[in-house]
Amino acid sequence: MAKYRADPSPLKVDLGVGVYRDLTGNTPVLACVRRAEQAVLAAQATKSYVAAAGREEFNSAVEEMVLGAKHAARRDRRARTVQTPGGCGALRVGAELIRAAAPAVTAHVSDPTWGNHTPLLGGSGLRLERYPYYDAAAHRLRFDAMLERLDRAAEGDVVLIHACCHNPTGADLDPAQWQALAQLLTRRHLVPFLDLAYQGFAVDLDADAAGVRLVCAHVPEALIAISFSKNLGLYRERAGALIVIGDNPTRADASLSHVLQIARSIYSMPPDHGAAIAAHIFADPTRKGEWLEELGLMRTRIADMRGLLAQHLRQATGAETFDFIRAQRGMFSLLGVSPQAVERLRDKHHIYMTSDSRMNLAGIMPHNVQYVAEAIAAERLG
Ligand SMILES: Cc1ncc(COP(=O)(O)O)c(C=O)c1O
Repeated sequence: MAKYRADPSPLKVDLGVGVYRDLTGNTPVLACVRRAEQAVLAAQATKSYVAAAGREEFNSAVEEMVLGAKHAARRDRRARTVQTPGGCGALRVGAELIRAAAPAVTAHVSDPTWGNHTPLLGGSGLRLERYPYYDAAAHRLRFDAMLERLDRAAEGDVVLIHACCHNPTGADLDPAQWQALAQLLTRRHLVPFLDLAYQGFAVDLDADAAGVRLVCAHVPEALIAISFSKNLGLYRERAGALIVIGDNPTRADASLSHVLQIARSIYSMPPDHGAAIAAHIFADPTRKGEWLEELGLMRTRIADMRGLLAQHLRQATGAETFDFIRAQRGMFSLLGVSPQAVERLRDKHHIYMTSDSRMNLAGIMPHNVQYVAEAIAAERLG
């Protein structure tokens, strides 16, 4: 980031930072958020604490949005939801809950995974192991190897799963693979910890939660970390939630009380502003309609850039090597080139991405997509 900022070239392109950007390169405040924010501020009578669990109306709306109105875990009163400081807060509180309940378990994370998973989960003292997920050179999932590895995990182990728009690969499981994974988790008594940070960025709110809903319909216990940083653009407001599903209502209540104890010991109360805005949007049909429209525009913009980049890479390389970019989902894809190639893209072409060659597709604009494709074509080997 520092090198990008210091680069005076007018050609520079930032594909590194993990935030959505619009066609002007801005990470906008959504119009629905602006309007909801005004209503929230006008109605606010106090800044006194809400509660360690946050806003009830936020929590119930989030639970319904993630699990769906008729999910068995909700019908059987086995789901409990608390507001957290962003998805990161949910991941950490969830990790602390697991560590308190079962100190000896291992948490299995995908190889590769989002860099922050390691400190967020490992920082609680949980042992981490990686399961094969994606072959960056071949640009495809390693699903058989993933299942084979998880089949050897110890009973009670935790499996961190990206719910959709896998970060950093953009490669998601298909419905049949979700089904096979849900069956394996159930058969091997593994506990899924689902990370849902991009709901609405792949297809729509329901489709993007389908894997979560399926897994949670199979297993007795699960955790879900939810973030509204991307889909509501609320990054700095730290709006998120943790859903804990227990195998019966009593156990779910016990988990909730542990979660609240953990929250008190880390940050006491979650921040309110972002969750108040989100709850307002979820409850007001006009605001919600505006949100779904804006979410759709963000999604389309990313899909457009995926299509354009793949098309220009085909022209520039004369090969189909990079067609995978078009089919993947969410903001990220791994280009699958060497750290040296990443350095050359930066030093010779002013194109910045992380050293694992993760690109943020929302960093590409129609005016520079051809430039980026030609630079990648020139530097991809070696
Ligand atoms: C995979 C993944 N999980 C969780 C998060 C949590 O984000 P936040 O703490 O901003 O809600 C992110 C954000 O980049 C992410 O990419």
